[in-house]
Amino acid sequence: MRNVECGITARADDSRADLPFTLRTPHSTFRIAMPVQAIAWSPSGAVRIVDQRALPEAKIERDLESGEAVADAIRTLQLRGAPLIGIAAAMGLVAGTRELRAAPRDRFLARLDDLARLLGATRPTAVNLRWALDRMTRVAMETPGNWGSAAIWERLQAEATAIWEEDRAMCRRIGEAGLPLIPDGAKVLTHCNAGALATGGIGTALAPIYLAHDAGRRVHVFVDETRPVLQGARLTAWELVHAGIPCTVIVDAVAGSLMRRAQVDLVIVGADRIAANGDFANKIGTYSLAVLALHHGVPFYCAAPSTTIDAALADGEGIPIEQRGLDEVKTVAGRPVAPAAADALNPAFDVTPARYVTGFVTDRGLEQPPFGDGEGRGGRAS
Ligand code: MRU
Repeated sequence: MRNVECGITARADDSRADLPFTLRTPHSTFRIAMPVQAIAWSPSGAVRIVDQRALPEAKIERDLESGEAVADAIRTLQLRGAPLIGIAAAMGLVAGTRELRAAPRDRFLARLDDLARLLGATRPTAVNLRWALDRMTRVAMETPGNWGSAAIWERLQAEATAIWEEDRAMCRRIGEAGLPLIPDGAKVLTHCNAGALATGGIGTALAPIYLAHDAGRRVHVFVDETRPVLQGARLTAWELVHAGIPCTVIVDAVAGSLMRRAQVDLVIVGADRIAANGDFANKIGTYSLAVLALHHGVPFYCAAPSTTIDAALADGEGIPIEQRGLDEVKTVAGRPVAPAAADALNPAFDVTPARYVTGFVTDRGLEQPPFGDGEGRGGRAS
């Protein structure tokens, strides 16, 4: 079903209909075992996304025609996940300036700057957003002064596509680096969604799991539901079911008792920002999991691309934590689950100190902090 006015395609979740997925970008077409492609260019140059609010009930594709529409989609969690919001913001700059290709250079650059500010203000915690916007604006500013708007726009489109393609390649390398951590028969616990729906490729925390499954290893994944927005139950379980990987959704409070009964071999989670000393922000509840894992002697890994490392921050104290609306906590599926007058707290992320982390799985390999500037200066895990 396609709604032309809204640029929306909706269909009820139809199981494994799009597997194996054929990934097409301007520079490559190949088959890769991934359950969903979270972002693409539409034929008209809009940013095509899967509206993640509707999953797992329906897979709705939405074409975001303007930078403002992309900003709104990021703010309202139509798309989310640190790497993906960076990619979307870069593509949003391109979609949002395509009408100005015939405008004078100054006007084009001023609009680009406005849109970068708007997109940069959508969510504070994931460093990938700021990183991608800085990279895009730097590219525009560094074009020779005699380049017109059309040439700058072409350059920006190539850069946004490169950001997306590089992320896809980093996901693959994270998967390869993490593969030795997932032996045949492994029982893995994960939190939130750090899979294909959070990235331009096969995910970060889920990437080693996908590759282990592809290699014929039996893997079972315990999926924290991840209150309050349920990215684990709605998104991670959806991805894993579509990929044919056995999984069990648990409420967040179950993790400790599973570990106590030796039902978890390792924990692997993603990250939204990693400080130079290895403290990292991830979805709220990650810190509690890390403490539980240390207490029970369960290895605890953080998987992320090097673009999630913020080497300018000495430690996790400086990571801005997004506070979201209280309705997310006080309602479930639109129904109140707390008195209207009750106060609530809704920090979207917490910070896990580096000392709880067994190792960082990045596109550069299995690493230990301190981390450098994304140029491979991080230490290697032994
Ligand atoms: O609020 P979200 O869904 O954008 O949160 C980001 C996340 O998905 C997680 O924290 C994830 O583990 C890291 S992003 C791959």
